[in-house]
Amino acid sequence: MGADDKPALYRELGIQLAALIADEADIVANTANMAALIYHRLPELNWAGVYFAREGELVLGPFQGQPACVRIAWGKGVCGTAAARGATVIVPDVDAFPGHIACDAASRSELVVPLLSGGRVVAVFDLDSPRPARFDDEDRAGIELLAAILVRNHPDWR
Ligand code: SME
Repeated sequence: MGADDKPALYRELGIQLAALIADEADIVANTANMAALIYHRLPELNWAGVYFAREGELVLGPFQGQPACVRIAWGKGVCGTAAARGATVIVPDVDAFPGHIACDAASRSELVVPLLSGGRVVAVFDLDSPRPARFDDEDRAGIELLAAILVRNHPDWR
């Protein structure tokens, strides 16, 4: 696997994530390991973690990186926008995204993938990078793959 073979890296991470969470039903434990796996295996990240959907807003869950804002309103920031759309958002330049919420001043670009269960957004997974335009469609597909593996392990997640 070449260092630039992102699809192969994400496939490998998918196998590792599936193994990490297979025998565990606790969503906090499993999202904690997912955040740690991604943060330590993907290059050029300064933050990786989850926000849970709680009563119409997003609440901080397990993550790796600097301390972050705890609550994000539905529709606000990159995370709230991805949650409201139920679709992945890639932001190549956070300064050019209206309403971007700056948790870590080092962040230059961002990728947020919603986690969908039973047709509902139950959480979002957020990646930040200190490099502008760090995330492309291969990262989108890769993180969406990991999100699908997580959600599949939690069929009762609501
Ligand atoms: N930048 C995000 C907030 C979360 S932090 O990046 C960890 C946003 O605009 O929603």
